[in-house]
Amino acid sequence: MAVINKETIDRIFETAQIEEVIGEFVNLKRAGSSYKGLSPFSDERSPSFMVSPAKQIFKDFSSGKGGSVVTFLMEHEQMSYPEALRYLAQKYNIEIEETKSSPELEEAKSHRESLYIVSEWGKKYFKESLLSTDEGRAIGLSYFTERGFSAETVEAFGLGYAPDQFDAMTKAAKEHGYSLDYLIEVGLLKDKGKGIYDGFKGRVMFPIQNLSGRTLGFGGRTLKTEKHIPKYINSPECEIYHKSKIVYGIYQAKKQIVKDDLCYLVEGYTDVISMYQAGIKNVVASSGTALTSDQVRLIGRYTKNITILYDADPAGIKASFRGIDLILAEGLNVKATLLPEGEDPDSFSKSRKIDEIQSYFSEASKDFILFKTQLLAEETAGDPIKKAGLVRNIIESIAIIPDGITRSVYTKECSNLLDVPEKTLISELNKIRLKRQSDQVRKDGLKSKSQASPQHFDEPPPEFFDPEFKAPPTKQVTTSGTFHQERDILRLVLNYGLTVIDVDSLDEDENEIIVKMKLADFVAEEIFEDDLIFHDSLFKKVLDMYLAELKVNPEKDPVTFFTSLEDNTTRELVVDLIADKHVLHKWASQNIEVFTESDKMFRAVRDGLYAFKARKIQDVIGEMKEGLKGIDLNSEDMMAILTEIQGLEEIKRELLEQQGIIIF
Ligand code: CTP
Ligand code: MN
Repeated sequence: MAVINKETIDRIFETAQIEEVIGEFVNLKRAGSSYKGLSPFSDERSPSFMVSPAKQIFKDFSSGKGGSVVTFLMEHEQMSYPEALRYLAQKYNIEIEETKSSPELEEAKSHRESLYIVSEWGKKYFKESLLSTDEGRAIGLSYFTERGFSAETVEAFGLGYAPDQFDAMTKAAKEHGYSLDYLIEVGLLKDKGKGIYDGFKGRVMFPIQNLSGRTLGFGGRTLKTEKHIPKYINSPECEIYHKSKIVYGIYQAKKQIVKDDLCYLVEGYTDVISMYQAGIKNVVASSGTALTSDQVRLIGRYTKNITILYDADPAGIKASFRGIDLILAEGLNVKATLLPEGEDPDSFSKSRKIDEIQSYFSEASKDFILFKTQLLAEETAGDPIKKAGLVRNIIESIAIIPDGITRSVYTKECSNLLDVPEKTLISELNKIRLKRQSDQVRKDGLKSKSQASPQHFDEPPPEFFDPEFKAPPTKQVTTSGTFHQERDILRLVLNYGLTVIDVDSLDEDENEIIVKMKLADFVAEEIFEDDLIFHDSLFKKVLDMYLAELKVNPEKDPVTFFTSLEDNTTRELVVDLIADKHVLHKWASQNIEVFTESDKMFRAVRDGLYAFKARKIQDVIGEMKEGLKGIDLNSEDMMAILTEIQGLEEIKRELLEQQGIIIF
């Protein structure tokens, strides 16, 4: 194993466009000079997730996460640091140069990583069995061909074949030197105490991939028709595979979902694949299990519109209704499309041209609530008791919808469809909503404060760098007397460190002159000259690192170095300070003047330093006064100390007087 060298890492950071990379996972909308979208880290309805192309950072105000493009991939895709770099290198065609790594690093490769590696190997193994072995071609590939899957489709979904022997894969894994424990953990191999054997055999294989295409698990379909053989065997849940959190086909579908602002939802692997091949690529499957909220949210990152494709099987449709209430509760718009009698999405898309499919979908799609109402109304015709139950059932679905206007539209339409007065429906609706609210309050009341329902922004938060915008404060670990001043100086350095400012100075003859220097250098000089050290160890560390980086490479913004740090505390502090560059602590909130010209930057940073010094002096004065307590009032010591305090008070007053706090 080797390590990616520094030059390559720099090149990757220079080339990668954060908005482009994140845009593949989050639906981003332009907002001034930055982008915003719904947080992919929490469940929210109005966007508090921001991406700044200028700073090459993201900040998620609802979860507090933030950092560089690499941080994003690590947080969101659970990639390791090198994995994220490799992912970007591949995306931007950057050749990776490596240096040899130590055995310790080799050792440190995570458990999780190993599971990903064996799963990826499994996919490759099944693929080779399918395409390059006689058995695979004769059985697996000819099955896919019979079903009409093209070679490109087989490739696009990474389909494969598991040889029909009890230990073919086990042997191959051993030959490759893989630790079989990992393969057992992901279900590729089994160990029931009597020796290790293959988990899938004689089946065609459907890899289940995450958003970035990594293999998490498999579905294996038997080609035998005996009743007692299960049609599909699916990978067990493990550290990398949680079936309730993923939908099949999302990797292949996500781009098209964003483009069409619509996602089709089907039942099975083969439905997804056939539709994709027919040209309808925005399609995913919940893979046999009931839909979960996590799955709905996953889709909801890309679009708010879901259309469910149903075969004409009333029992199956009714069974799905509970899952659909989940989609409604997430605030998504749901439509339903009933396929013609005897068809499923697979057969339907196979036998028609894309235009035909699309026009059928757009004509037959019905709003879900109305679809449900109609379907159930047919069944209850002429039976008043059943009809009353139906009304309640429908109203329960409507009551889940978060948006009031949408609810009232539905109530009106259902009143027509069911021939029930609208007033009756509304009063029923309100009863249900009231009850749910009080249930919720009771539930929340039982939880501790920290677990209570998360707060959401009611309005979209303002622009990323909006001067009016007060971001939630950063976590404050230790507060020294100068905490806020140190924080503000650091904020100025991180945001404007490279800006050349006009510094008022004196030459040898005590004449006033203006010296041009970088803001960061000015701060460094001032702080070191007066031997003022930041009290807060994290602030000090960041400032020291910043200045050290700047020394090594004077032209490069050291901020890029911080935003890609693996150390969460340091990185998040820096990102916070960049993200709320306009937010001064309230000690500085009087006499505020907002401006952007760089010539005034000098005043801002100078005032920050003065405030810091004044506060430091205040601390010293405090200590001295404390020291006075045990001293004889008439002693010389007392006089000396008092004189010193007076001097310091004088300096402090001067420092404070000179301040006109400025924000830019
Ligand atoms: N499924 C499963 N286990 C089974 C049957 C079904 O996990 N024993 C899941 C699979 O994810 C499958 C989906 O439910 O894709 C839908 O089932 P079905 O319609 O029977 O399978 P298809 O994928 O449509 O397969 P085929 O078209 O080959 O019948
Ligand atoms: Mn099918």
